[in-house]
Amino acid sequence: KHDVLTTIVVFGASGDLAKKKTYPALFHLFEQGLLPKRTRIIGYARTQMDRDKFVARVTSFFKVDVESPAVKRFVGICEYVSGQYDAAADFQRLRGEIDTNEQAMGKRGGGEERVHIYYLALPPSVFVSVGEQIRSNVYDGTCTNRVVIEKPFGHDLESSRQLSKDIGALFSEDEIYRIDHYLGKEMVKNLLALRFANVFYEAVWSHNYISNVQLIFKEPFGTEGRGGYFDEFGIIRDVVQNHLLQVLSIVAMNQPKSLGAEDIRDRKTEVLRRILPIQLEDTLLGQYVGTRDGSKPGYKDDDTVPKDSTTATFAQCVLHVDNDRWRGVPWVIKAGKALDEAKMLVRIQFKDMPNPLFPNLPRNELVLQVSPKESVYIKTIVKEPGLSTNLAMSELDLSYKTRYQDIKIPDAYATLILDVLNGDHSNFVRSDELDEAWRIFTPLLHQIEAEQVVPLPYEYGSRGPKGVDEFPSERAGYKLSNKEYHWRPKSSA
Ligand code: BG6
Repeated sequence: KHDVLTTIVVFGASGDLAKKKTYPALFHLFEQGLLPKRTRIIGYARTQMDRDKFVARVTSFFKVDVESPAVKRFVGICEYVSGQYDAAADFQRLRGEIDTNEQAMGKRGGGEERVHIYYLALPPSVFVSVGEQIRSNVYDGTCTNRVVIEKPFGHDLESSRQLSKDIGALFSEDEIYRIDHYLGKEMVKNLLALRFANVFYEAVWSHNYISNVQLIFKEPFGTEGRGGYFDEFGIIRDVVQNHLLQVLSIVAMNQPKSLGAEDIRDRKTEVLRRILPIQLEDTLLGQYVGTRDGSKPGYKDDDTVPKDSTTATFAQCVLHVDNDRWRGVPWVIKAGKALDEAKMLVRIQFKDMPNPLFPNLPRNELVLQVSPKESVYIKTIVKEPGLSTNLAMSELDLSYKTRYQDIKIPDAYATLILDVLNGDHSNFVRSDELDEAWRIFTPLLHQIEAEQVVPLPYEYGSRGPKGVDEFPSERAGYKLSNKEYHWRPKSSA
């Protein structure tokens, strides 16, 4: 697709997302020679900025020297247009700019393949108005149009449906790319390969051998600086309903009919359909407080957070996928801000050996670590090497850092933008998936709000509120294996 005449318009180009993610990802693709030869990137935002200021802004998160030739060449394909988000004349000016740039890139007219990508790095309050302006003043029916949007997609089932309806009136589902950046992470993308290209994983991938699954998301920092945004959403809307549920659906899905985007999304949606709405009784909620020594603030110490806020910054819940593969297997999701470490992983715990030869065996576990370090490991029992006849817990360990030393794992946004360029929807959320995801969490969210459920306090930097560590064992039958597991047969003792 290297000769497609391509225009990428980044709306919200002066904002944080554009600066931290969109432009660095576009630069990464450019540097790797993955943007089509003839590409222009047009930033659009309200802020009046001269070119130097715009360039300084969008390159500020680049990991290379901004004076380097590659950055200079990249900047050469970038433009900036400032305008309002609801002014037809401004959008017409933008359309003029797109046309001029296409001419400058050598537009040949006629049957030439052209694509316009509209990347909405914008707050949801302006999604629809910008969509309307694009549709009536920028949209070009003679080329391919793709619209990229980012969460939050509504705040409950009803508002999400309304948004889907409004956006759906402007663009077809085929033109819409809903980003969930977890779908662009290396280990998440790896799940399909791991599961459906290795006979031995698929063989044990069900309630027959799996006892319980945990999806864990921990961040060591609080919501400092974005308390205003966060307080409206809370941890369930921020990461659970989207990122973690998306990962869950890929771990749980049946094999898709093909690698086509719709086949994959069909299977993911099927899983979500089999999950009952989460109950408050199956949930543990927390909100972090400052450290005793005062070195780290509490959630409510943030000036942008109301002093009586009951928004959860931590949530742990258990759910079930009611289908033949998973009936009886509890799935525990845990997500929290201001915890003791940075980690996202999926921990699959297998059942006990059905007919054990050795006593008190700990359980096997398969762990897929998504971040900070990509790895897959299987907790495996071995005979202690050497003359010993003890058993010990060890790991079959595939750590990407040691196994793939020369490979730089790209940021999720780079792979997702590349998918948009290629017109591949596999790693984007379809509207029916989104609908199911909200169906699962909306009753719980409404109940929490109606009853003003007060989350349990936990200290910044701790493991979470009281009960966090017991939750998986009490609610899901998780058995903590003793790290120091050794077993010595009597004869050699
Ligand atoms: C975002 C959430 O979607 O994901 C943030 O809004 C969260 O609160 C972030 O920190 C986590 O993403 P990553 O890629 O840093 O794990």
